[in-house]
Amino acid sequence: MSSSKDPCSSAASSRGNWGSKLGFILAAGGSAVGLGNLWKFPYLAYSNGGGAGDQQGAGGFVLIYLLAVLVLGLPIMIAEMMLGKRTQTTPIGAFESVRPHTLWKHVGTLCVITGFLLLSYYSVIAGWTVEYTVKSVTSEFSNYDQAVSEEMVREQLWHDFVYSSEGEAALIIELGQKPESLSKALTDPKLNTLKQVVTDQEWKRLQQNEEGQAKLSELKKTLYPQKLFSEFIAHPWKQVLWAFVFLAMTVGVVIGGVSKGIERWSKILMPALFVLLIVLLGRMLMLDGAGKALSFLFRPSFETVTASTVLNAMGQAFFSLSLGMGVLITYGSYMKKDDNLVSSSYSVVIMDTLIALIASVIIFSAIFSYNLVMKDGGTGNLFTAMPVIFMKLPGGILLCAAFYILVIFAALTSAISMLEAVVATFVDEFKWSRKKAVYIISAVTFVLGIPAALSYNLMSNVTIMGKTWIDFADFLCSNWFMPIGGLMLSLFVGFVFTKKDQQEELPEAHCKWFPFPLFRVLVRYIAPVLVVVVLLGMLFGAIQ
Ligand code: PHE
Repeated sequence: MSSSKDPCSSAASSRGNWGSKLGFILAAGGSAVGLGNLWKFPYLAYSNGGGAGDQQGAGGFVLIYLLAVLVLGLPIMIAEMMLGKRTQTTPIGAFESVRPHTLWKHVGTLCVITGFLLLSYYSVIAGWTVEYTVKSVTSEFSNYDQAVSEEMVREQLWHDFVYSSEGEAALIIELGQKPESLSKALTDPKLNTLKQVVTDQEWKRLQQNEEGQAKLSELKKTLYPQKLFSEFIAHPWKQVLWAFVFLAMTVGVVIGGVSKGIERWSKILMPALFVLLIVLLGRMLMLDGAGKALSFLFRPSFETVTASTVLNAMGQAFFSLSLGMGVLITYGSYMKKDDNLVSSSYSVVIMDTLIALIASVIIFSAIFSYNLVMKDGGTGNLFTAMPVIFMKLPGGILLCAAFYILVIFAALTSAISMLEAVVATFVDEFKWSRKKAVYIISAVTFVLGIPAALSYNLMSNVTIMGKTWIDFADFLCSNWFMPIGGLMLSLFVGFVFTKKDQQEELPEAHCKWFPFPLFRVLVRYIAPVLVVVVLLGMLFGAIQ
């Protein structure tokens, strides 16, 4: 992409095009691949799969997610890009130019609101990756020996016992029946005496000889990242600071122009992330817990599937593919006339899905191989499980730093797209200068992000519908705003665009893998109906 083709250039000035097909795929793929794949998907799989209990699994969630990607994600992605490509403008303008002076333009307004909110909390989680890069570079992970308390070790020993077959038998004797759930048994006061006896015995055994001590030190290595993580998120000012730093980096790129640095770096760093993930995957598949991880993720198990699993899977499809908030309208507006919407969408969808699945296999292999206990429903997976893996690899500290730098980069390309969509809209609609738009929008976003940054500490008791602010903001964006945005987009492209309009954008030569009639039926009926059914289900209380 040359600078005249900079997607950042305001629409008021001459609109550019992507320099190459790769440029577009990298930008759209860069937007799609981010914390959604590396942090949120594994975390949702963990929590929707019912945690690490033996009998549960995330297969149902994963399957529903894959269906959502194919049936909703793909057609809505094509529709969203088509709207941008045809109208050559940003979210509000796109609707306005096709149906002027109607309420349609407020779909664009919703996109903008979503963009603000999304970026505000996305920066907080992305800030964690900045802190973790610093932690790796300063070798903080190697201080585990002094830092892990006896109590933490005992908790872990108890956990390991409860989940062992020997433990299960002991629990049955103690309780007189099979425990209802192993995770509840962990904290059952009726088991306190047994816990004391077992952990005393195990603790002594670990002290006894060199072998025991080596085991103890390994155990501490796996516990330490969890301690670090819970201490870190309890720090209010660190959360705010790193969110600020991350946002400043995003602003720096968006102000400087996407084409200069980001596309060049994308070409190197995105493949680098992919290669590192494949290497880690290879390594993790050799561990004992890999089989369990694969079956946890892919065995179709529906014990834990509830209506809210469906909602979460759908929301995640929108979040991960960057749908329904105008990013792809904006990026699509820089496409050239004969660019192929179908193959571009396929590339983005496949890349995005593969990365989410690979990241999950890596993280779950670590969880099961080292018996990690995720206390927070999995929110910390990326930050507690990954360092454990790295600490056990030769040269691990360096790899760990490289990993978190690549995660920052992935998050950055996503954050850029969010900011870009909002900025471009203000530039187009209100004729703001690009600089003014970037500064004002990012300042507002930062302020909005403060309650998100405080959600794990000072404001952890402030809840809306039982959720802390950050969870609530994510719930609103992923499970409501983006699906509604996507719904409106698919109706708009499905019914307001004529068949001829659609066909012009999807000529037969492009539709080998996605026949035009299939697109039409998906975008007009199936996708909208599914989104409405899930949202109504939630509205009427079937889904929490
Ligand atoms: N898709 C991004 C991710 O997976 C998040 C995102 C959502 C980016 C919406 C832009 C718009 O991290």
